[in-house]
Amino acid sequence: MIVCSCNVLTDTNIKDIVNSGTCPRTPGAVYKCLGCSPSCGRCIATLRNIINETLAAETSPAEMPCRTSRELNVA
Ligand code: FES
Repeated sequence: MIVCSCNVLTDTNIKDIVNSGTCPRTPGAVYKCLGCSPSCGRCIATLRNIINETLAAETSPAEMPCRTSRELNVA
């Protein structure tokens, strides 16, 4: 899906760069890493949401190691 029509950036482009070793965490950093810059700015909120969702998915509870109640100090 095209997220930024000015730069023809897709959600996949954004997810890939966020998951890359450079790991940009702001819209400005994503534009810079993808070799472009914001023009009209209409995409920034969507871009920010995709960044947040991608970063949250990296640390989703499903991927975290399971802990026993003893480790969590819960009865
Ligand atoms: S739609 Fe992204 S800068 Fe215009």
